[in-house]
Amino acid sequence: MNLENLRQKAYEDLKKASSMEELEEVRLKYLGRKQGELTAFLRSFKDMSEDEKREYGPIAQRLRNDLEQEIDEREELLKKQEIGTIDLSIPGVKIESGRIHILSKVYNDVCDIFHSMNFSVAEGPELEEEKYNFDALNIPANHPAREMWDTFWVKNDKNTEGRVMRTHTSPVQVRYMLEHKPPFQMICPGRAYRYEASDATHETDFNQIEGLMIGKDISLANFKFVIEEFFRQFFKDDKIEVKFRASYFPFVEPGVEVDVKIWGKWLEIGGAGMVHPYVLKQGGIDPAKWQGFAFGFGMERLAIIKYGVPDIRLFKSGDERFNKQF
Ligand code: PHE
Repeated sequence: MNLENLRQKAYEDLKKASSMEELEEVRLKYLGRKQGELTAFLRSFKDMSEDEKREYGPIAQRLRNDLEQEIDEREELLKKQEIGTIDLSIPGVKIESGRIHILSKVYNDVCDIFHSMNFSVAEGPELEEEKYNFDALNIPANHPAREMWDTFWVKNDKNTEGRVMRTHTSPVQVRYMLEHKPPFQMICPGRAYRYEASDATHETDFNQIEGLMIGKDISLANFKFVIEEFFRQFFKDDKIEVKFRASYFPFVEPGVEVDVKIWGKWLEIGGAGMVHPYVLKQGGIDPAKWQGFAFGFGMERLAIIKYGVPDIRLFKSGDERFNKQF
């Protein structure tokens, strides 16, 4: 084996290698463990005479070192060239950033506005006791108004006797009264459930905003101011008008339906009224000393009006194209 020839051949091959793959081929051809030509030569050493070993040993070693070094240098060069061919001005893949769900935004906005008017934000359980969802709100078992709110009953066992998926957020009124001394004002945003077929304007679960303000002489006039102020801020429209229509809910007296004139049209938003003395009593509050208003609005309804959503089912569709629009 002529080592000088081997060196020349290897260097020529190296010069021609113009990609990392080709360079690797050259490396295998000469230095590869199994088929490398130089490796084979070094392996044949053990059959050589002492003289041969002394003559070829250092040359072969140097060739190996040189080749290794040369390959490393060549590799560096190729890497630089490859980077040089990347066009850094090409725009990269656009990574979509996440965004808050439109209903969450409405939820947060509602809380912010009421917070600015000194309302606390309260919570209550979605799996509610029958007595808070109905009885304490002046809706006894045989009351026809129960029908309006018939819901998902949870099978009775020892722990869940008489529990329902709450049909409205009103039970939180009584829960809150039992834990706080008046005067106070709070809102309770949260989910409610109703046993009904879903369509463009109805869902089996949806969100409400309950409101409650109790004081010495709180009246519907105070409610009118608070709610007009809320709508003005929420819809960002100073010309908003509010009107009450007489209505009936067992837990208020008198009861009203709240309509809002927005962009020239009257729209129904929810129910309200003066808290019924029976309900105050259930909450441990003396109706001879305290009075106040309560209201319940649909959160989706607010979002639908503000953002022009055509179908309530879109909120839960999970379709990113829906949420992207806002
Ligand atoms: N809870 C009623 C409903 O779900 C709304 C309401 C709340 C009405 C408070 C009056 C007072 O329809």
